[in-house]
Amino acid sequence: MKSSLKIPKHWTFRNQAVAKHFDRHVREQLPWYGLATQAMANFGRHYIPSKGMVYDIGASTGNIGLAIKDTVDQRQARFIAIEESQEMADRYQGPPELVVADAMAYEYEPFDFAVCFLVLMFLPVQVRAAFLHRLQELTKPGGALVVVDKVQMPPGYVGTAFSRLTLQQKLITGTPPEAIIRKELSLAGYQRPLDPKSLPASARTFFQMGEFVGWIIEKEETHGTIAR
Ligand SMILES: C[S@@+](CC[C@H](N)C(=O)[O-])C[C@H]1O[C@@H](n2cnc3c(N)ncnc32)[C@H](O)[C@@H]1O
Repeated sequence: MKSSLKIPKHWTFRNQAVAKHFDRHVREQLPWYGLATQAMANFGRHYIPSKGMVYDIGASTGNIGLAIKDTVDQRQARFIAIEESQEMADRYQGPPELVVADAMAYEYEPFDFAVCFLVLMFLPVQVRAAFLHRLQELTKPGGALVVVDKVQMPPGYVGTAFSRLTLQQKLITGTPPEAIIRKELSLAGYQRPLDPKSLPASARTFFQMGEFVGWIIEKEETHGTIAR
């Protein structure tokens, strides 16, 4: 099977060809992408209240928005997708509203539900923990932030086994070996796996497939003192 995308030497989402082929390319690269997307729809039903506020951070072409649209509409929630690449935004097909902006500079309103699906690994390493902390602060009580990302591998043989699992899964989807290697090399310096220690302590894992992990991060509970 021929790869759907000519891999750029230096990976970027600000590229017409990357944007054009993104939807097919991401499914070739990550066979669990559809399953994890469905999990977002499920969590949306759990955390989006009536007239709630919802963000899709790093929205690309609108995958998450399309998955949770039914709940957003049914609950009459406000949905905002944020995407910094104009090329990706031009192909956006999710629900309105789309904002073309840097997600780290964006002025968020407090929200009930936000999704960061395969985005943090593209943000500068030094800002990630602070960004996650800010998002958690912005989460309303009862709400949640959901993160799916590539993580740093544990030391030892298990890390090798996890990395090879990713490679094997890409092959199984029919991606040509040369395209897999070119993509890996193209990502150097731009995609850097997340250090799980940068996540808030309340993060709960709901998914793991080798190098890729998903967490739900609820608002940190502040327990009031009961007067006796
Ligand atoms: C792997 S894609 C995300 C996939 C998408 N969430 C989905 O469900 O298919 C990463 C996206 O994050 C966007 N992105 C990266 N850094 C960003 C930033 N600082 N602000 C907003 N979007 C950003 C990229 O342009 C790209 O579209």
